[in-house]
Amino acid sequence: MCGIVGYLGNEPVYEKVIKGLSRLEYRGYDSAGMAYIEDGELVVKKCKGKVVDLENVVGSVKPLSHIGIGHTRWATHGVPNDVNAHPHCSGDGSIALIHNGIIENYASIKQELMNRGHVFLSDTDTEVLVHLIEDVRNAEKVSLFEAVRLALSEVHGAYAIVVLDKSNADQLIVAKKSSPLVIGIGAQDDFYIASDATPIIEYTKNVVYLNDEEVARVDRKTGLTIVNIDNQSQTPYIQALELKLEAIEKGGYDSFMLKEIHEQPRSIEDSIRGRVNLKTGLIKMSGIDEHEERWKTAPRILIVACGTSWHAGLVAEYLFEDFARIPVEVEYASEFRYRNPIIYPTDIVIAISQSGETADTLAAIELAKERGALIFGVCNVVGSSISRATHCGAYTHAGPEIGVASTKAFTAQVVVLYQIALSVAQKRGVISNERTTRLMAELGSLPLKVEQVLKTNAITEAIAEIYQHCSNALYLGRGYSFPVALEGALKLKEISYIHAEGYPAAEMKHGPIALIDENMPVIVIATEGASYEKVVSNIQEVKARKGQIIAIVTEGDKTVKGMADHVIEIPRTDDSLVPIVSVIPLQLFSYHVAIMRGCNVDQPRNLAKSVTVE
Ligand code: AGP
Ligand code: GLU
Repeated sequence: MCGIVGYLGNEPVYEKVIKGLSRLEYRGYDSAGMAYIEDGELVVKKCKGKVVDLENVVGSVKPLSHIGIGHTRWATHGVPNDVNAHPHCSGDGSIALIHNGIIENYASIKQELMNRGHVFLSDTDTEVLVHLIEDVRNAEKVSLFEAVRLALSEVHGAYAIVVLDKSNADQLIVAKKSSPLVIGIGAQDDFYIASDATPIIEYTKNVVYLNDEEVARVDRKTGLTIVNIDNQSQTPYIQALELKLEAIEKGGYDSFMLKEIHEQPRSIEDSIRGRVNLKTGLIKMSGIDEHEERWKTAPRILIVACGTSWHAGLVAEYLFEDFARIPVEVEYASEFRYRNPIIYPTDIVIAISQSGETADTLAAIELAKERGALIFGVCNVVGSSISRATHCGAYTHAGPEIGVASTKAFTAQVVVLYQIALSVAQKRGVISNERTTRLMAELGSLPLKVEQVLKTNAITEAIAEIYQHCSNALYLGRGYSFPVALEGALKLKEISYIHAEGYPAAEMKHGPIALIDENMPVIVIATEGASYEKVVSNIQEVKARKGQIIAIVTEGDKTVKGMADHVIEIPRTDDSLVPIVSVIPLQLFSYHVAIMRGCNVDQPRNLAKSVTVE
């Protein structure tokens, strides 16, 4: 899941690489490194740690080179240390390479190369690739471009790579398979290469997304040349970027996470705009309308996703069953992929992913596609691999999400899935017009309600102050609030490193209740609705064992207020929309706890924003 950048142009490379890596650091921050050519020499600077550590390694004398590559790593093969940091070099020190992905057959290639005298310095799979390229170039007496192509045809796995050759300060070689890679073409024939468009937007809007198994050469004299792995020439498809620079900056907030939590009224509104028409009572989504028959007749929906997106999928299961009366199965993409699942050609598979790059989700999509299912994507990143691999879909218009902990993407996903479920229910004729109109109006009022919840920030912060030192937490919810309990627990563990678990409230008595004592905070979503009274009983059960209750309640609630240690009130809404409102205080709670514990909320340890390895 590393971030890679490359630059070839008329300006000094240093600032471009450092700035680009900082933008991509959300993808991994185990180590950082760069390589450039100066006075005919290949210079490599790299170290364990973050981009700022790399800046310290480079020191005050900045390179003046106009060509270079940079990398920020999320380690898969070999511990995070200086030696395993990218770039990696060929044995003769003439070629430097950066890589995002995994070379699956690296061990056998490494053995063969070692038999031929290659000596390896690191434990990475990446170093094997650069030695292989060197080996092919020397054996076949071919150009670097050709050597990269030939070497890659021997490789299994995933890669986005950029290769720099010391004897040619005019060219970079780029290739990709399953890991993302975009090439920006600047006005002065400057070329920008990156894992996503964020390092590129301030320089150019013209980009080419490389396809899988394509190898490209960017050259000062000949420009951009692309071939596929079989050496057939490919015509570059130049697209215009829609991303705006302000969207990827912190805009006055201390962290991206806090900014993104506060952006939710807008991201929710953006994810509804143009789709719901209150006057006609209709929902317009082209991915549904264009495949109307499939949606009307599908006997089943499968949802594949990971992490927070999987939680959004769980909410969608309830929505589809409730509104559209279609059976739904929600699967962890990784499990689905590796257990020979039953997929019928009549099934519809919904793949949910913020980044659109999650390798497990992509692999699940490929499998379902092979079996003939219709694949519908719910992605946030426009042009991402998943959005391209699916037959149709609907974007969440959350804008770039940089904080590793997903917040606004979750609420936007639920909003989009909500509209899909309503639209399908309408098409199948299983929901009354009155109910649809009421729910659509409720949906439209969400941005204001979320705005209102954000105003409870101070209360949440005060509660966080009390529980910041706890070592465990339990999250409980029923019905639509069960996935929210899971999401709240995930947020707390990933950014504050406190062990937390989410449970259906009624399941507590089948095991987790044994954990409850006076030190255990139990966060309960106890809003009014179908299971309110049952949840109230669950709260009593916790109190009887001296657990500390933090309850999320509907405004004006008196019953729970009388028994909980702390309450956070949220505005009243339909049961089916509660997840979107009730998750906000849980996001804020984990944010405050993590900040109070001195954690880096945007870049929690061991994690990365897009998980492009299986
Ligand atoms: C959420 O906070 C996580 N960091 C993580 O679980 C994430 O949701 C998961 O990796 C899936 O990512 P995707 O939505 O980009 O596919
Ligand atoms: N496999 C490479 C490494 O461990 C790249 C990792 C990645 O892309 O996440 O260094």
